[in-house]
Amino acid sequence: MCGIVGYIGKEDAKEILLQGLEKLEYRGYDSAGLALCNEKGITVIKEKGRIADLRGAVPLDIQATIGIGHTRWATHGVPNKENAHPHQSESGRFTLVHNGVIENYHLLQQTYLQQVQLKSETDTEVIVQLIEKFVKDGMPTEEAFRHTLRLVHGSYAIAMLDADEPETIFIAKNKSPLLLGVGKGFNVVASDAMAMRQVTDQFVELHDQEIVFVRKNEMMITTLDGTIIQRDPFTAEIDMSDIEKGTYPHYMMKEMDEQPGIIRKISQQYEDENGELTIDTAVLKAIMNADRLYIIAAGTSYHAGLIGKQYIEKMAGIPVEVHISSEFGYNLPLLSEKPLFLFITQSGETADSRQVLVKVKAMGYPTLTLTNVSGSTLSREADYTLLLHAGPEIAVASTKAYTAQLAVLAIIAYVTGKAQGKVQHFNLKKELAITANAIQTLVDAKETFEEIAHEFLATARNAFFLGRNLDFYVSLEGALKLKEISYIQAEGFAGGELKHGTIALIEEGTPIFALATQQAVALNIRGNVKEVVARGAHACIIAMEGVEEAEDRFILPHVHELLTPLISVIPLQLISYYAALQRGCDVDKPRNLAKSVTVE
Ligand code: M6R
Repeated sequence: MCGIVGYIGKEDAKEILLQGLEKLEYRGYDSAGLALCNEKGITVIKEKGRIADLRGAVPLDIQATIGIGHTRWATHGVPNKENAHPHQSESGRFTLVHNGVIENYHLLQQTYLQQVQLKSETDTEVIVQLIEKFVKDGMPTEEAFRHTLRLVHGSYAIAMLDADEPETIFIAKNKSPLLLGVGKGFNVVASDAMAMRQVTDQFVELHDQEIVFVRKNEMMITTLDGTIIQRDPFTAEIDMSDIEKGTYPHYMMKEMDEQPGIIRKISQQYEDENGELTIDTAVLKAIMNADRLYIIAAGTSYHAGLIGKQYIEKMAGIPVEVHISSEFGYNLPLLSEKPLFLFITQSGETADSRQVLVKVKAMGYPTLTLTNVSGSTLSREADYTLLLHAGPEIAVASTKAYTAQLAVLAIIAYVTGKAQGKVQHFNLKKELAITANAIQTLVDAKETFEEIAHEFLATARNAFFLGRNLDFYVSLEGALKLKEISYIQAEGFAGGELKHGTIALIEEGTPIFALATQQAVALNIRGNVKEVVARGAHACIIAMEGVEEAEDRFILPHVHELLTPLISVIPLQLISYYAALQRGCDVDKPRNLAKSVTVE
């Protein structure tokens, strides 16, 4: 969470920084700030709220060719102007922005800064005050910077200005993402490449515990102990149209609409020269060598993992466990003899998942990341990576990444199953093409889902999503979508489980969304719906062609039974979207959330 930008060059820094922060707003949007450095010194401008609020506060006439900026997702201290970044040292000489969490900030403050009056409640301020303290004690800035970072425990991406050395931006990284961007006569720094793509497509990766001194025409990367590191830039393959909203009212709508095209693209990306679905041979070998897969993920990616388990077990015959990353690392289950860890993460930056990756790598186990962001931390650090090819997902609520995860998981399972002679009479490529067409039909039926949202959720305080078998896992995702963007309390439930307690919550008018796509349990889920309707629930049954009945509110086009999650989730995404709109919620940037969760 939190986004960082920095610019040093010849142009007006404020516009470049503001545009960069606008691109990073998905990482946090409760407050924002800039520090601009010119011959008069450093000017800090901070605002509670969005980048638009910050933009409104920046004086138009301020000219500066050096600056740093930050968009915040609060961890320590409420979102207000005082806690917004940049933070300054007592004298104002040092100005710093930070993404991450300093775990020992309280101890550091007690040990070194008893005499300093802190101005904010943040962990970040301790870093900048410490640097000033060590400079006052006689250290040059560079040494004080290194010394402070050696004392700090936790995660950080840092950019700092020193008013006495205005031709340098001091950079440091540990666990939180940060990239350097290289230009002609300027250099930049940003939490991701999208933020600075408007000025350069050349970027340099940073690794943990590295420090960089960024100047207009050079940048020096060193380790914490001062060893100089040479690293070549890479070209960021980002199409600017992928990160613009175009004529869409929201990124979420654009991203939902992209889903049919993405499923077709994934099919092509995972095709060999004979047009057969394939995955990298090293990855296939690693999967076939494993006696058990451990899927590690959070949120929507965890929900995709639950379905991935079904695919891999059914098609490839390999046992799979699915774990929530924030739990797994601190409560290891008994592991099999030859495990393979599969990390599912849209962003490739989720701190909860990364801490598991670090732990299992240290234990010597092989790791595979399934991500949408090539070059992301979990992609770089795992032994193998498979990409989602979904294009940048900007809306906080994940939609296209989820369907892309399901499609790639199906391909992994299918290719592995075929390699073991376990898949016959099933052509996944053909079924994915049918599924992509079905998704198109659904995203074209938006008005129906808008009506359903109005009919079932206009005044709802809570809602239930029911399903059995694969539909149950989709109902978990449906409930998460509705919660995160409309703030209606929602629960996804296995249809048969409701009567074991939770049915007590059903009252007159409680909205129920029930999925019925699975032949084997179609009658069972209908029975479960009858139980709640008998207690006053207002039920919306979404069934698939072939198992439909007169009572259904919407009929999904027919697709292969294993691929139903890719289509049954679309109505739930659209219903959530319209419910949120009808309530006046900010669909792309829901309250309290951030797209990339880079703190544990
Ligand atoms: O980038 P990741 O897939 O690792 O992110 C995991 C979750 O934070 C993410 O899926 C989150 O649940 C989404 N906001 C849900 O829409």
